[in-house]
Amino acid sequence: ELVTCGPSATPRSGAAQGDADIIHNGAVAFTGDKIVGVGPTEEIMHRFRGEDTDLIDATGKTVTPGLVDAHTHLIWAGWRDEEYEMRLKGATYLEIMQAGGGIMSTVTATRLAAEDELKRLAKVRLERMLAHGTTTVEIKSGYGLSVEDELKSLRAIRSLNEELQEAGSGPRIAATFLGAHAIPAEYKGKENDYIDLICNEMLPQVAAESLAEWCDAFCDIRAFDAEQTRRILSTAKSLGLGTRLHANEFARVGAVQVAAEMGCSSADHLLVLEPEDIEALMVAGTIAVLLPGTPLGLGLGSYAPARALIEAGVPVALATDCNPGTCPSENLVLMISLACSQMKMTPAEAIVAATINSAYSLNRGEILGSLEVGKLADIVLWDAPNHRHLAYHFGVNLAEMVFVGGRRLQI
Ligand code: NIG
Ligand code: FE
Repeated sequence: ELVTCGPSATPRSGAAQGDADIIHNGAVAFTGDKIVGVGPTEEIMHRFRGEDTDLIDATGKTVTPGLVDAHTHLIWAGWRDEEYEMRLKGATYLEIMQAGGGIMSTVTATRLAAEDELKRLAKVRLERMLAHGTTTVEIKSGYGLSVEDELKSLRAIRSLNEELQEAGSGPRIAATFLGAHAIPAEYKGKENDYIDLICNEMLPQVAAESLAEWCDAFCDIRAFDAEQTRRILSTAKSLGLGTRLHANEFARVGAVQVAAEMGCSSADHLLVLEPEDIEALMVAGTIAVLLPGTPLGLGLGSYAPARALIEAGVPVALATDCNPGTCPSENLVLMISLACSQMKMTPAEAIVAATINSAYSLNRGEILGSLEVGKLADIVLWDAPNHRHLAYHFGVNLAEMVFVGGRRLQI
């Protein structure tokens, strides 16, 4: 099966999300870093096979676009496995956070780590993502929470990106500034001073050094309220950054409405949604980035209402949320599987979500995310007889070959 997810001139929503445009006995041809042909194998062989053509026989297997992970927090130091065990014994994520653990414990460890160390740690995680078929990764800062440490985190992302691009050896990276991930301890009781710091110092420096394409904020209970989020995102927009938002993960504090009103590219998490929230996302054309690894990691037992979103015509994307607190997994295929078993998405909907729709959420839908002539040759060959196996045959790695820009990378 050649799962093309194309042509897709826009994110796929509603019934179109459920059609991954699969060609049975299909083939894809690429030259340099671009796709030059997609179609039935016989036709592609006839048109493109020359004397020096490298031929990869995918008989009995499945080929998809490279997966796009649109929401990760890869830049961190220090693990939180003790917290995990505390939660297993009954403590909740928000209780641990209020007691000074949670995000703040990762902030302490990340502040102590040098830029090079953060880069080295993130590289290992990126390699693991690539090995599971992910070829584009969004990476957020957000465990620095001071001017110096947020810039250090973003510089680590940039330097990693440059290194991988030069070596032609890793996934593509999109950087996001998430200074509004938590109120750092030293700003307790003077939250608005921290918002000032973000708007007056952090964001202008991030923009001046072009350290991030996107700005995100954690708009939720015990995090940033709607008003503070509005201020941060509008400052980011005025500096030329795109916007995306952690919305409705734990409580409804108006995050979805802020995302819709600010024209955010995506609203992410969406675990607690009312029909009016879904309506707002639909009207605004905001992509819903769902992160089923997070409720799995937290043991919540309830997932985002993917079916209601799809039925309302909201384009749905999938991501790992890879972070040390709620979901340390690098495996986006696992999220495809959870999307099906827990959120009742079809395998085709979930694959569309993790490829073309994620690509659109990162403003890359016109250059990658589907197998279409002219797009970047980011392609995965899976040891799977058809696309359903990506969801159905879960918990193991089925990725067999991964190509980024036409180059087969070592996995
Ligand atoms: O997306 N919600 C905020 N951020 C992360 C968790 C970060 C952490 O616990 O370290 C999330 O789930
Ligand atoms: Fe997150």
